Amino acid sequence: MSGLLDALTDAVGERHVLTEDDVRRSYETDWTGRFSGEARAVVRPADADEVAAVLHACAAEGTGVVPQGGNTGLVGGGVPAGGEIVLSLVRLDAIEKPDTVARQVSVGAGVPLAALQERLRGSGLAFAVDHAARDTATLGGMAATNAGGARAVRYGVMRHHVVGLEAVLGDGRRVDRMEGLVKDNAGYDLPGLLVGSEGTLGVIARLRLSLVRELTSRATALFALADTAAALDLLEGLRRRLDSLEAAEILYPDGLDLVARHSGARSPFEDEHGAYLLVECAADEDPLDGLAAAAEESTAASDVAVAQDAEQRRRLWALREGHTEAVSAEGTPHKLDVSLPLPRLAEFESRVRDRVAEASPGARTILFGHIGDGNLHVNVLGPPPDDDGPDEAVLALVAECGGSVSAEHGIGQAKRRWLSLTRSDDEIAAMVAIKRGLDPEGILNPAVLLPS
Ligand code: FAD
Ligand code: MLT
Ligand code: ZN
Repeated sequence: MSGLLDALTDAVGERHVLTEDDVRRSYETDWTGRFSGEARAVVRPADADEVAAVLHACAAEGTGVVPQGGNTGLVGGGVPAGGEIVLSLVRLDAIEKPDTVARQVSVGAGVPLAALQERLRGSGLAFAVDHAARDTATLGGMAATNAGGARAVRYGVMRHHVVGLEAVLGDGRRVDRMEGLVKDNAGYDLPGLLVGSEGTLGVIARLRLSLVRELTSRATALFALADTAAALDLLEGLRRRLDSLEAAEILYPDGLDLVARHSGARSPFEDEHGAYLLVECAADEDPLDGLAAAAEESTAASDVAVAQDAEQRRRLWALREGHTEAVSAEGTPHKLDVSLPLPRLAEFESRVRDRVAEASPGARTILFGHIGDGNLHVNVLGPPPDDDGPDEAVLALVAECGGSVSAEHGIGQAKRRWLSLTRSDDEIAAMVAIKRGLDPEGILNPAVLLPS
């Protein structure tokens, strides 16, 4: 052990090799509290050279390495299973001057999303991907998980905004594609392979990101509906009419009750409804009139609350973004982030609670999600963290409905067993071959994504 610690100290300096129990602890348990393991040490490199030196030292000892950004991941992908080194990337936090002609910016992997948003505010440019963990989630972690978020319905996911990156592969070789070339068909798309690889193929040190125009006028409304089918009906009409549509999020009354209980945020409607659709439009000109007209035309909605100012917008978003914390405040959830073909989403929603109840009588199932992308977040409360029963029940139904076991959070440690529900044997064999090619010693995130 001391040989490895000496080599790590040589690589990053003594101050950045953390071994004390109480200092390591926050790096060892994931955001949900469901996944936890002891790390041999937490190591905090400052740049790609130091990352390479750490990987070299760990490979020599055959010690696993768990890359970690903000540790906001929800599938146990960024915490050790036991005995690995945690490689924290938070010191790679430089934001370079944005290139306003190319509409790109270079950032360190450890830059939190909110820091980039703050840096760009008022510049005329913005980063397209956004989600509620913005203050802590890093752009490296978001790329490694191919994060989606609320604006994916308009702009797509991280994959669509990573123009290039700098990374150290598991075998120590480097990928350096930071030139910002929009067109670059010289062989395999190595940055594309690393996006969504959950730290199993390489460690991302820097990213070249594309930016979109900053839109300064926003309009937000919450629609009350009978059920999920009505929400999809409304969504179809809104998409047809509104080019400015930027978010379409589904909520249900039990989730709203939890948010009210834990944050005090209240539904604007007096009566309870079967489902709610939170919609946001963004444009240069105020999109409120267009949204209000679309709302009036819709026969699907039973009621609507349109935000009249920034404070009312914030309150509507608090109802949506408060879900994750409110669910966790009730206990350690089983979080099953899934996607469905839109034509089968209402069927899935109507069946999933019963499936969970059969597997785990007494469990509570709270749903919400990014309905515009066919992405539902199924949260099961009650069963102990190590009981796989509800996970199996939900993911089997996803497979029956032709969906994916992971929409945006990744496979991590949480869904390893179920990768084969949505990937064929041949596809998994291809993934294993890629892993062996780029990380022959299998040191990077050994307990994550691929079957053991
Ligand atoms: P971590 O949690 O530290 O790591 C996540 C994974 O990436 C791990 O497998 C880790 O090994 C790997 N990794 C991290 N950094 C690197 C690196 N530099 N190189 C290689 N691998 C690396 N996700 C969505 O997609 N959409 C949402 O709307 C959304 N909302 C969220 C809301 C809340 C309140 C929370 C807590 C989480 C939410 N997430 C959402 C989860 C999401 O996965 C993370 O927030 C984020 O994408 C991960 O960033 P991170 O820096 O915290 O990564
Ligand atoms: C969200 O959309 O709020 C997130 O992906 C987090 C979650 O699933 O709790
Ligand atoms: Zn989400």
